[in-house]
Amino acid sequence: MHKFSRERTSLACSVWEGALSSHFMTPFLTEPMLRYRDSFLAAIREFQSEGRHTDLNTAEMQQYFPRYLQYWRDRKQNPAPGLVAETTFWLIDGATFIGRLSLRHELNANLIRFGGHIGYEIRPTKRQAGYGKLILRLGLVQAQQRGLTRVLVTCDDTNVASARIIESNGGILENTLQIEGRLIATRRYWIAIQDAG
Ligand SMILES: CC(C)(COP(=O)(O)OP(=O)(O)OC[C@H]1O[C@@H](n2cnc3c(N)ncnc32)[C@H](O)[C@@H]1OP(=O)(O)O)[C@@H](O)C(=O)NCCC(=O)NCCS
Repeated sequence: MHKFSRERTSLACSVWEGALSSHFMTPFLTEPMLRYRDSFLAAIREFQSEGRHTDLNTAEMQQYFPRYLQYWRDRKQNPAPGLVAETTFWLIDGATFIGRLSLRHELNANLIRFGGHIGYEIRPTKRQAGYGKLILRLGLVQAQQRGLTRVLVTCDDTNVASARIIESNGGILENTLQIEGRLIATRRYWIAIQDAG
């Protein structure tokens, strides 16, 4: 069974620190903060150039950023009807926004099929450097602190990188579902964290 402990996490982080960057500080997760706004918005523009987050208006976000901070707080504390509470985390290295992780506090009928407890993305210019594996590892620590004993993580059957990230973090494939309305089948993995100390 997969064992996930604080010791293992800090060991992993010290390895990552050497492998990932020359920064003194280990990359870390934080909830969204004003101080990382410009780096976050630069990342959004990168995502947009590959067709993601095209609904976001970065100029407007720059101007009204506190509203967006409130939006993320509301998703955690006062979710809209039909949505489960979700905490947004940013992976920061030095002062640079690297990626986002969403931790759903529970599952609903949709999430249990597609989406799961944890979703993540790494900005295009920071990919293939190990940050994907790291963001999920750190997300599992957050899930553990929230009292979850196992988490569901899903990915497209064709998303080789995400499958490797999940499997390297102890994911056990339950099944691959063809979900109505989705062209690509969905892999559903469970990661056990009840052994965490
Ligand atoms: C999927 C994603 C998070 C991967 O992030 P990343 O920082 O590049 O991941 P890592 O550097 O930790 O790489 C993890 C593994 O995938 C491999 N990998 C990364 N990108 C790859 C690619 N494009 N093709 C094949 N393998 C790839 C890495 O080599 C590594 O393999 P290893 O186990 O041999 O070391 C990133 O590409 C992304 O944000 N994609 C868009 C959003 C998305 O798909 N999110 C996941 C939804 S489930």
